[in-house]
Amino acid sequence: MVRTESLLEIVKLFEQAGAAAAIELDVLDPDRGAGRYAGEVVDIDGVSYVHRPFRVWVDLAERLGFRLSTPRPIEAPLVRLRFERLATEASVAVDDPAEKYGASSEFARTTKLEEPGFVIDFAEALDRVELPERPRILDLGVNTGDELALMLALRPSLREATFVGVDRSTSALAKARERFPFATFVEADLDQPLELGEPFDLVVTIATLQSPSIDDRALLRRVFQRHLTPTGAVILGVPNCRIVDGEQRYGARMKNFRQPELGLLIKDVAFYRKYLQQHARQVFVTGKNYLFVTGVPA
Ligand SMILES: C[S@@+](CC[C@H](N)C(=O)[O-])C[C@H]1O[C@@H](n2cnc3c(N)ncnc32)[C@H](O)[C@@H]1O
Repeated sequence: MVRTESLLEIVKLFEQAGAAAAIELDVLDPDRGAGRYAGEVVDIDGVSYVHRPFRVWVDLAERLGFRLSTPRPIEAPLVRLRFERLATEASVAVDDPAEKYGASSEFARTTKLEEPGFVIDFAEALDRVELPERPRILDLGVNTGDELALMLALRPSLREATFVGVDRSTSALAKARERFPFATFVEADLDQPLELGEPFDLVVTIATLQSPSIDDRALLRRVFQRHLTPTGAVILGVPNCRIVDGEQRYGARMKNFRQPELGLLIKDVAFYRKYLQQHARQVFVTGKNYLFVTGVPA
């Protein structure tokens, strides 16, 4: 039972558990201390307990690579927390690199539309963008079109928009065409110049600029030179998370680091921010598991 142990002592318990598949802790029901901060002491029937909001247990599980099951009540005021170790993160080899994110990939099982850290922050980024009537919108790395679904749900007037999505995955684009028959999907390599017609009022690219096959700086230059109107807006989404064993974990996976190393991400985001400012855009950087760099006319 955990009563007054510090968080550090609890972390040590996890370390001592070695490779155990699961760890159970009996702790004070977080609801018994609702409104108190983590670490405040709650006295119940003459016994002291350290209160921890449920969020602390969720964060702990996430940071240490465990899945937290729904707490089960045991003898009041305690609940039992079960932490199951997540499967080891392994890179999946693919025969065809263009299908790494295709219809039969692990990625295809996920949808950002169910992730608060995406939906809420993307909605806020889109709120900052003013669009003309019947705008032209370009999505680079569109995959099966989740961003398009979200934009339409957030702004139903965008049904009048012209959407163009580009990706190199044949199978993902087939799904996108099925979902959005009114949009245009182009199968192409984003690392090469593209012929996409008139420039766009909004260019969105989510979790794509960092792909190893793409020179993000060159792509951004081409966006501004060829694909964006002089007052067009951009939303660049940079993932700061990864998926593993049914969970979304904070931070990109890095060899030789126990916790995410953010140096590259910060460098990229700082570059995008400066580049957009140099192109007369007011820039907002928001988000947590996805960082959004939003540029709108200054
Ligand atoms: C991580 S997925 C993100 C998809 C979607 N934007 C989302 O956030 O759900 C990256 C996408 O970029 C596409 N992609 C990666 N490199 C590419 C390239 N060189 N040319 C075209 N598409 C590419 C992949 O096929 C994939 O659909």
